[in-house]
Amino acid sequence: MKLFLDTGNVSEIKAANDLGILDGVTTNPSLVAKTGTNHEDLLKEICTIVDGPISAEVLSVTAPEMLKEGRTLAKIHDNIVVKCPLIPEGLKATKQFTSEGIRVNVTLCFSPTQALLAAKAGAWCVSPFIGRLDDVSTEGINLIDQIVTIFHNYDYETQILVASVRHPQHVVDAAMIGGDICTMPFGIFNQLVKHPLTDIGLEKFLADAKNRKL
Ligand code: G3P
Repeated sequence: MKLFLDTGNVSEIKAANDLGILDGVTTNPSLVAKTGTNHEDLLKEICTIVDGPISAEVLSVTAPEMLKEGRTLAKIHDNIVVKCPLIPEGLKATKQFTSEGIRVNVTLCFSPTQALLAAKAGAWCVSPFIGRLDDVSTEGINLIDQIVTIFHNYDYETQILVASVRHPQHVVDAAMIGGDICTMPFGIFNQLVKHPLTDIGLEKFLADAKNRKL
């Protein structure tokens, strides 16, 4: 499973990228607004740090405007993946972007029918938001399970990007079910490596090593 960081924070992206296991970055308008940086400048900088897909979301809500905005974003770098919302106009734009060779991340997916339509439009990936479903008492991970089955049944190449991840167990569940990509905040990314028994074990090995015969 590919691991993406869901942030616009450049320091976080640099720190995660330094581990050598970061596959890409997703951003959204809320995350970009938090940085206080110009959208294009931020994307350019992220593209200099990470050599992998970088999702950049359009703000337009009509297909012609999405196409205009998305083409400008796609020109920033070959690694830019244009993010379109899962609305009828977003599907129209996705189909056109795909025919032009521009990769699309269809975002704000909350149902298996929406995911099916994104795949039919030729999306490079679809982003089901599992945490936001959990927030409304609907098991978000079940949606991933449904989409995995549907895409497998018909050999759709659209990748499932598990988004709105709130804790490491979401990452485990996504990997168990067969999500292609999991994007997460920096805090969760950091939690993935941690285990108290690793720290205790390392401390003991280092302490015992002091008694080694030289
Ligand atoms: O980037 C899309 C998604 O991951 C947002 O997550 O936590 O705002 O629901 P969240």
